[in-house]
Amino acid sequence: MTDALDGVRDHYRATGLTERLKAALTTFGPEDQRLTPPQLATLDQFHTRGLAATVDLASLAGITADMSVLDVGSGVGGPARFLAATYGCRVTGVDLSETFVDAARYLTERTGQSGQVSFQTASALELPFDDSSFDVALLQHVAMNISDRARLYREILRVLKSGGRFATFDVVLNGGDPLYPVPWARTPATSFLLTDAATREAIEAGGFRTLAWQDDSEAAKAWIAQLRASGPPSSPNLGVVMGPDFAQFAANLGRNLLEGRLGILTAVFEAAPTKA
Ligand SMILES: C[S@@+](CC[C@H](N)C(=O)[O-])C[C@H]1O[C@@H](n2cnc3c(N)ncnc32)[C@H](O)[C@@H]1O
Repeated sequence: MTDALDGVRDHYRATGLTERLKAALTTFGPEDQRLTPPQLATLDQFHTRGLAATVDLASLAGITADMSVLDVGSGVGGPARFLAATYGCRVTGVDLSETFVDAARYLTERTGQSGQVSFQTASALELPFDDSSFDVALLQHVAMNISDRARLYREILRVLKSGGRFATFDVVLNGGDPLYPVPWARTPATSFLLTDAATREAIEAGGFRTLAWQDDSEAAKAWIAQLRASGPPSSPNLGVVMGPDFAQFAANLGRNLLEGRLGILTAVFEAAPTKA
């Protein structure tokens, strides 16, 4: 398992990322000019359907201002900043990639949200928090990098308060072998996809009750078709984060979705009220 985690860490190593971001963001003005979360959406929402998917997931999860939210596998922090700006909640992000955490902190300083949003380097399989710390946990496009799903969902349950919500937005196996490389893995060695049914079984076995369950594959296909027609956004995008190979990763994700090899799942669960 450590080998797999090291492989995942390598995939998201993104050497020199904060410097690349600084350079790319000059397009919005000088370094001391405050940025807004929507300005960054083409580069900091690292998942299918971008910001729109975070908007939908947050709404399904029922986030409110008094909540403490954990974003597991927070990437460069776009979802966390969006949630804090939109709902007024406190958000903590954790990510395996130290470079991503540094970049997330830098971008959060640039949006002036460092008092409300924080980030730590840690594994989702060993969350550095006490039991029952959070009202909501988000997991967007992260589970496919994690082989030990039982442990992942157990850890999320542990840090949620009794009755807390777990909102997940996942890529799932659908009807055939995916083409690689994809945005989360260059090869199958660091990709641990499950079907939607197996995902649900693993989450419910961990002590969660299903509140919402949506197959979002059609919405994802429509988004891919639109991107193919328009080309990549002209504003700084995920190519800055992942480098020039990102175009190939994204093209393969598009083919996998359009050809029905992969699907997209949105789901919200409640931590069983009886949890210890
Ligand atoms: C495709 S990105 C999604 C980032 C973010 N959730 C978003 O939607 O913008 C996947 C993220 O999961 C993180 N990740 C993968 N495995 C992890 C693990 N075991 N623990 C913590 N983070 C992990 C990666 O470092 C990467 O930042």
